[in-house]
Amino acid sequence: MSTEDGPGTDPDPLDRQSDVTDLHASLRREGEEPAEGHEPAPWWLWAGAVLAIFVGGFYFGRHSGTFTAAPHQGFIPHAGPGPSASATQAPPDGSKIYAGRCASCHQPDAKGVPGAFPPLIGSGYVTGPPETPIRILLHGLQGQITVGGQTYNGIMPAWKDQLSDAEIAAVISYERSLPGNGAPAIAPEAVAAVRRKTATRTSPWTAGGLKAAAGGP
Ligand code: HEC
Repeated sequence: MSTEDGPGTDPDPLDRQSDVTDLHASLRREGEEPAEGHEPAPWWLWAGAVLAIFVGGFYFGRHSGTFTAAPHQGFIPHAGPGPSASATQAPPDGSKIYAGRCASCHQPDAKGVPGAFPPLIGSGYVTGPPETPIRILLHGLQGQITVGGQTYNGIMPAWKDQLSDAEIAAVISYERSLPGNGAPAIAPEAVAAVRRKTATRTSPWTAGGLKAAAGGP
């Protein structure tokens, strides 16, 4: 028995063994036929894609500003060219604040509703000493008041938490400028001063309280 021919060393009666072995050897040597058009993407392409997703996701998360519009508001162009462009913020528009916050009660023409909402035209509360409308806007007003000969007894809401000093100044200045009123505008600093002075106040003003405050320090 010889072992030189590997497995199946029995002499092949038909002498096919060596042919098959040679055939397999040549097949193994040749390797697979290359197929064109279906190569798998190289590993570095996948690695690059995954890296790009991570880096992009990180950048997006860091710089998207949680998708609020707030980061862009600083870039809203100024209303007009003018030299006031140095101001960082355009002053609030009193007529817009009035339309949004006040007109539902005091009416778009500011003439009020008799018996329910007092007019802001021809009212001493609006055109008198600036501190009076500032106090009303900051803390509200309730109890009986008389405006233009009419008596009212309603509740005017407080705005100190909703409106900034500049917004309160703008809306009061707007009221004071209405036709028939013609009182001078007031500055945000005046609102800030009254806000400071009345910081501890939690209840709305009354007609009597306003009169006393106007005469006081
Ligand atoms: C929910 C209704 C309501 C809204 C909104 C409202 N007011 Fe009034 N306002 C009243 C009522 C009611 C009175 C009278 C209170 C009373 O009878 O004591 C009043 C009184 C006033 C007064 C003093 C009286 C007068 O006629 O001059 C002023 C000034 C005033 N409001 C300004 C404003 C401004 C400015 C806004 C918007 C920022 C505003 N109000 C929003 C209901 C409202």
